[in-house]
Amino acid sequence: MMTQFCLAIVICVLVHVIQCEDPKTSLEMVTKSEWGGRTAFEIDYVIIPVKNIVVHHTVTPNCHNKLECSQTLQNIQNFHMEDLEFHDIGYNFLIGGDGRVYEGTGWHKVGAHTIGYNSKSLGIAFIGNFSDKLPNSKQMKAFKNFLAYGVKTGEIDKDYKLFGARQVSATQSPGLRLYRAIQKMQHFVNL
Ligand SMILES: *[C@@H]1O[C@H](CO)[C@@H](O)[C@H](O)[C@H]1NC(C)=O
Repeated sequence: MMTQFCLAIVICVLVHVIQCEDPKTSLEMVTKSEWGGRTAFEIDYVIIPVKNIVVHHTVTPNCHNKLECSQTLQNIQNFHMEDLEFHDIGYNFLIGGDGRVYEGTGWHKVGAHTIGYNSKSLGIAFIGNFSDKLPNSKQMKAFKNFLAYGVKTGEIDKDYKLFGARQVSATQSPGLRLYRAIQKMQHFVNL
């Protein structure tokens, strides 16, 4: 009886330790309903695992907590759905200055972020303007954890290609400083 009890404790501790190694636990994701997002008008699906990751910046002020970031996401979604007439917020995920990853259109769904790539990529936007400054370390770390988590769960191809929106469309996005930072990442490709 005592042995079984001790064994149960050891297993619990082990499970806890293993979970700490998991990128998911250091990754805080916020669902669309948590930030007050609206339902998409229509949903199309990408083939998984997705092979391309397109990096953007939102060119809005950065945000530093869940409330602020949620408000920013609501504004972006309203702009995308009402002014640009997109089916949803354009990006698949957005990364806040608070180090949280916010669900946009979400996993395996077609976004509206990069013409020619929407159906074969995930569009990830860093909240803020990164022409002249880098995202903070929490924001960069959240991006890396997110990618690792996506590969681990089979949503993202392990040999995915990472690039900036400016490489495939007429935009400054994701901003020169952030663009230079992603150029140093392992999966970055010149196109
Ligand atoms: C983004 O930042 C750059 C450099 O500071 C600035 O020139 C540009 O106007 C900003 N964009 C917007 C939309 O605020």
